Amino acid sequence: MTLANNTEQWQRLTQQADNIAGQHMRDWFAADAQRASRYTLSACGITLDYSKNLINEGILTALFDLADTMQVGQKRDAMFDGKIINNTEQRAVLHTALRNFSGKPVLVDGKDVMPEVLATQEKLKGFVASIHSGAHKGYTGKEIRHIVSIGIGGSFLGPKIMSEALKPYWHKGINVHYVANVDGCHIQDVLAKLDHSETLVVMSSKSFTTQETLQNTLTTKQWFLEQGGTQQDIAKHFVAVSSNVKAAVNFGMDENNIFPMWDWVGGRYSLWSAIGLPIALTVGYDNYRAVLEGAFEMDEHFQQAPIEQNLPMLLGLLGVWYTNFHGAQSHVLLPYYHYLRGFPAYVQQLDMESNGKSVANADDQIDYATGPVIWGSEGTNGQHSFHQLIHQGKLLIPADFMLPLNVHNQNDTHHAMLASNCFGQTQALMQGKTFDECFADLADQGLDEDTQRSLATHKTMPGNKPSNTFLFEQLDPKTLGALVAMYEHKVFVQGAIWGVNSFDQWGVELGKVLGNQVLDKLVNTQAPLDFDSSTNHLIKAFRQANQ
Ligand code: F6P
Repeated sequence: MTLANNTEQWQRLTQQADNIAGQHMRDWFAADAQRASRYTLSACGITLDYSKNLINEGILTALFDLADTMQVGQKRDAMFDGKIINNTEQRAVLHTALRNFSGKPVLVDGKDVMPEVLATQEKLKGFVASIHSGAHKGYTGKEIRHIVSIGIGGSFLGPKIMSEALKPYWHKGINVHYVANVDGCHIQDVLAKLDHSETLVVMSSKSFTTQETLQNTLTTKQWFLEQGGTQQDIAKHFVAVSSNVKAAVNFGMDENNIFPMWDWVGGRYSLWSAIGLPIALTVGYDNYRAVLEGAFEMDEHFQQAPIEQNLPMLLGLLGVWYTNFHGAQSHVLLPYYHYLRGFPAYVQQLDMESNGKSVANADDQIDYATGPVIWGSEGTNGQHSFHQLIHQGKLLIPADFMLPLNVHNQNDTHHAMLASNCFGQTQALMQGKTFDECFADLADQGLDEDTQRSLATHKTMPGNKPSNTFLFEQLDPKTLGALVAMYEHKVFVQGAIWGVNSFDQWGVELGKVLGNQVLDKLVNTQAPLDFDSSTNHLIKAFRQANQ
């Protein structure tokens, strides 16, 4: 398939960007009282106001035509149909099967995978119930009160961030602690607080080969035994989630305590699998299932809604518009909701590990920008940190604002302030403040004209900075599921247009291999050093400090 930048639509979009170069959103709003209502979409409990974007009807039409030319719809259908779209690993991409409530089969290699998906969900449901009811006790007879969830990347971010987001739904009496980094400080800090006899360890690793997760689990096992547990007691206190059951058993996990997952589920797309066990343990199985149901509704929307009303299609295309026609190199997520403070980090892996690529599926080198840097933090904190750059810096940084209209521990004053900041920021980014307005504001400050002019120059806000605003009634489990699935499909749309394989991650392999070679030199302190002079120097410094 031809690369996107060789299409007629790409040329049209380049022209469209030139056409609006001297225009300002402020004027578009002034000229069209219907702009906000025209560019607002609602689906699956999410309302998107995308009117504060650098768009008009001609631009949207060209973007939709680009999606059509790049066969995004057909590629989407191929994914849902279980086609081998992860071509470098020769795998289907079927995280959507894990939340398939349609009752229809999903075939992988001609076999319907739904029975095993549903069986695993039943196993997970039963296990969560046994922990919450106290039926599953520790080896001393104590009920389980603490969960240590060990995993990294998609085996950590999904469980941790989704559980955090659902704080109002936490099951009383269960405390979940997440450990990912191989830095021993973290696991030690967590274990120091716990009684091993009332602790369950959930080890999550799709490959069961990830160094950090294996080491953290070994350390935890050692801690359990040192605290008085025996090898026979391990089965009551350690469970695993993996697609590599053999390796998990060899590691010492009881086969009955292994929740399977499949190679057609990518790590960063795996929270819908048993990797979501810590979420279910935190909020209860019914709430966890509601997260899946919300994602399923977004799947249906993504497959059925016409492109003009299709949230993931629109978001993906807007991202292409800024990345490829306005030079945006990053995209900032600004959840105005404390419980969604981890959401930027979740989307960071989802987006950057999927589309941070430079080779197209047809093995062509790509000479246009692809995946943006994803970053952000909860509002209003960012306003006192990086919003200055977004408002007055030289970089164009499209922003996603998100706000629940109601919060569970409703405090009117706080929530109104939060909402006012969210809306005020999007307004300031759009309309800015002209030099003349700033100059006039300074009129009664007693300044001489030169000073007034100079200060007004520094206070001028260019505006014309694009943003999306997402609103939802409340961040309940279903809405959270729909929100996450919406971003998954946005990433899919962009990968489909850029022609990359969004589902492998070869870029993480080299660092792991070289890291293991360095580890060998740190452990074997007499081993000769044959790396570059910098790496050799760093190893020597470490050896010196730890001799
Ligand atoms: O970062 C590379 C990666 O493979 C991620 O895609 C994955 O989520 C993470 O490492 C952990 O992998 P595993 O679940 O196999 O331990």
